[in-house]
Order: sequence, then structure tokens, then C-alpha cells
Amino acid sequence: MADRVLVTTDDLEHAVRINAHLETAGFQTALTSSFDDVSRAVGTGDPAPDCIVLTGGLHETSAAHLLRIARDRSISTLGLVESTEPDPKGLAGRLGLTAYLAKPADPAEVTATVRRLIDRRRLQERTGIIGESPAIQEVLVKIEQMAPVSSTVLVEGESGTGKELVARAIHDLSPRRGQPFIAVNCAALPEALLESELFGHEKGAFTGAAERRLGRFELADGGTIFLDEVGEMPPAPQVKLLRVLEDRSFFRVGGTHPIAVDVRVIAATNKALKEEVALGQFRDDLFYRLNVLYIYLPPLRARKADIPLLVRRFIAEFAAAHDKRFRGITPEALQILVDADWPGNIRQLRNLVESMVVLAPEGEIRASDIPRDIRERGRGLPMRLPGATRSVAGQELEFIFRSLVELKLQVEDLRRRLEERPQRVEVIEVGPGSALAPVAAVDTEPAPDGEVVYRPGMTMADVERAAIEAALRQTKGNRRKASEILGIGERTLYRKLKEYALV
Ligand SMILES: Nc1ncnc2c1ncn2[C@@H]1O[C@H](COP(=O)(O)OP(=O)(O)O)[C@@H](O)[C@H]1O
Ligand SMILES: [Mg+2]
Repeated sequence: MADRVLVTTDDLEHAVRINAHLETAGFQTALTSSFDDVSRAVGTGDPAPDCIVLTGGLHETSAAHLLRIARDRSISTLGLVESTEPDPKGLAGRLGLTAYLAKPADPAEVTATVRRLIDRRRLQERTGIIGESPAIQEVLVKIEQMAPVSSTVLVEGESGTGKELVARAIHDLSPRRGQPFIAVNCAALPEALLESELFGHEKGAFTGAAERRLGRFELADGGTIFLDEVGEMPPAPQVKLLRVLEDRSFFRVGGTHPIAVDVRVIAATNKALKEEVALGQFRDDLFYRLNVLYIYLPPLRARKADIPLLVRRFIAEFAAAHDKRFRGITPEALQILVDADWPGNIRQLRNLVESMVVLAPEGEIRASDIPRDIRERGRGLPMRLPGATRSVAGQELEFIFRSLVELKLQVEDLRRRLEERPQRVEVIEVGPGSALAPVAAVDTEPAPDGEVVYRPGMTMADVERAAIEAALRQTKGNRRKASEILGIGERTLYRKLKEYALV
């Protein structure tokens, strides 16, 4: 079926020429006279159009309304902006247009843009990557560009921002699709196991290596290997990985013959790998080998405009999966989700939506269905719906500001909690042979001998000093015994005694 495009007639001359050009190019088109018509068509019409071209009237409130509906339904929008418009990019961002062109617009260019927008949308459907924010659109463009080649890709982003999803998308769109996609979490295994996991081992290579075992690189031959949390990789496997990237061959653990593979490497990290290099935790030569192509996935709190879309998609997905009749979410509840800060990013949002779809009693997510910690985390934060796109510098300032506000809230929260329980404190017990171990809270009073009392306001150093004093009291000043009790070396104890001026 031909792709459907609606063209608004606010600028009739443009509309007629564009409509004709789109038709010639094979689109199924319709001209609509008013935004309200379009809104109605989009709101109820089935099948929905694939793209809407707005030829004018962008400053009218009905345009903003229509664009909001289109955005929520993943319909692409192309706006034609007057040549007199002082800030077309800002206007497009505020309205949430998928793309814009300045007038007078060349019908051929409009058609090409519509084609590109529809293709991009298909790509999103294929990859499952949801998002209208400029950041996600940029990621999609990069995926398209990077898929056809075999160069190594480094994907950076906090946990839950979609790094693995992006890696799979690159693989699925590449000529390697149909070949294996093998994921390895480099943080999950101890060093020795990680090496044999990645590169395999020969029979008898180490105790317990009863058989030859193929590593992930061999299993991924012809396909793609996804090295998750590559920043956690210990030094020895880092050297081996460097070698694979340099000459596409490696030795199995205990092996003597190099093994050649044709594997595309996509590495992911939730740390800024460059900083790890600066700290000496990660080899710089390996960093440059991995960082040939680069994708950054911003945290969800930096692209809040995507939250309504994600929420609606996840609701639909889980309602279908759990076979529930579900109406959706109230505006108030949605606003709370937009305002929350999502430290676990999309993974956290997705899991929460699933649990709410399963548990919400009314077949609809309401504010009261949202767990308290999420509701409170958003309290007082300034970002409102619909998420307006701002300049990068503005976004950064906004982010810094938000972080400060959040920090302040956390400090206040901490203080409140401490004040709420003034006479309850944690006791750290120091007993013979035991390391420092926190035990149950008891009421405050002078610490009996051999006990260290934590009081609000104490720093870690204060607690340590108190523990040392208690241990020395208990051992009547015998430093060797005290250091044994404390589970530290005698030299460390001497150093700390000096540090705390206890000698
Ligand atoms: N842009 C997105 N659109 C839809 N779902 C997403 C998006 N990004 C992440 N997800 C989902 O969030 C979850 C976490 O994504 P994942 O790729 O495992 O993150 P990461 O590897 O960065 O920890 C997965 O269920 C994934 O499908
Ligand atoms: Mg992951």
C-alpha cells in the first residue's frame, strides 16, 4: 500500500503544487483545509497518515494541538516555515515538528523529505527504538550510516539508555544480519573466565579445561560481537582484545595457533571511557581502536520529551502482552512520570509501566498508582510538558540547575530522616575476632566499653577513629591484637594512629 500523506491548505499555492508532486512520486495524498479536520482525521481516522505536511499557520494553537496528537501517534510532521520567521529552528523545536523547510519550498525537496521521514519512522518500528527527541533522531541517523560498514562502534550511555538495543539495530540493519549476534558482559566474569569466554581454550589449558571450548569471538564469526561494559575489562583481556582489533586474530587460552575471525565489534560502556583512560584504568591504544565510530545515548532525564511516547507505547505493549483492557494514563500521572528523574533510564520506566499495567485497579494508570519514590523525585522540578527543545547550552544549564535542586532535596530528605529518629542510632560492635559489623539500632547512651557509637554528623574518619580507640581500650593498648580485631595490618594501624594523632 502506498504511503499516506496529508497536506494542509493554509498556504493553498504551496499545498497544490506539493500535493501534485507527492502524487506523481507515488504517495497517496489528501488535502485538508483546517487543522481541526486534520486533528479529527488523525484522532479517529484509520489508517492514520504516515506523514503530515503543514503548509502554514504554524503559530496557531490548533497547530500545536495537532502536532501533539501526531507526535503521540508517531506520525511524522513536516512544517513549512515563513521566510520571515526569525527563528525557524526554535519554532520547529517548540512545536515538536519532525522536520521543517523554509518557504518558498521546492516540491521536489518536500517530497524527498517526506520520503526520508517515513523511512526513518519505519526504521524505528523495525528497531524498536522509540523517540522523537533530536538526540534519538540523531542516533537513528548514525545507526543508518554505521550499519553497512564493519568498523568498530563504541556506544556510551548510562545503564538502561538502550545501548544493547542500538547494537542489535546496527547488526540487524547490516549485511551481517542472519549471522550471529553474540553479547558478552565483560563485568560479569572474573578475569580468567572472561579470557576463556571470549577467546576459548584448548583442552588442558588449565585445571578443569577438560575439552577444547570455542570462545565468543569464534562463535560470532561472520557476525557481530557486543562487548557490554567494556570499561570493566581487566588489563590482561584488554591486551588480547587490542590484538583482535588490530589483526583480526587471537589465540585460544593455552593455544599456539592464531585463529582468524571476521567479527564486527560493538562495545558499550556506562562510564566515560576517555576518563577511564585518563585515570589509567583503560588502555589508551584500545580506547582508540574501539572508538572508531561513536554513539552517545543521553540519559532519559535529558530527553524528557520522549517520555509520553515511551509510556504510551509501553502501556500498549504490556496491555497486549498481559491481555488486559487498558485505557491509558491520566494527564496528571503522565506529568509525574515526565517530571521524575529516572536514574535507571528507559529500563526503569519500562519495568514500572509493566508493573502498573498489571496492578492498576482501574484499567488506567493514575497518579495514586505511581510508587511514592517516583512521585516525590519529580517534586518541584521545573521541566513541563510538552518538552520544549532548547539550545544545548540552555539544556546544560537546565541540567545543572536540576541536579542542584535534586541534591538539595536529597540533603533535606536526609536531614529530615535523621531528625525523625533522634534517639535511634546505629551501633558498630567491636568484638574479639570480628571485623566491624553493623548491628541493630539501639537507644543512645554512652557507649559501653568495646562498642562504638555512631552519632549523626560523624564522618567515616570519626567512626574509624572511634573504632580504633575502642579496640585499643579493649586490648589494653596492645596494638598487634587491636589490629587483628580491626582486621587491618599492624602497619596500617600505626599509620592511622599517627593520622588521628592517637600517639
Ligand atoms: N529508545 C528506546 N525505545 C524503546 N525502548 C527502549 C529504548 N531504549 C531502551 N529501550 C528498552 O529499555 C530496556 C533497556 O535497554 P538496553 O538496551 O538493555 O539498555 P543498556 O544496554 O543501555 O543498559 C530494554 O528493554 C530496551 O528495549
Ligand atoms: Mg545493557
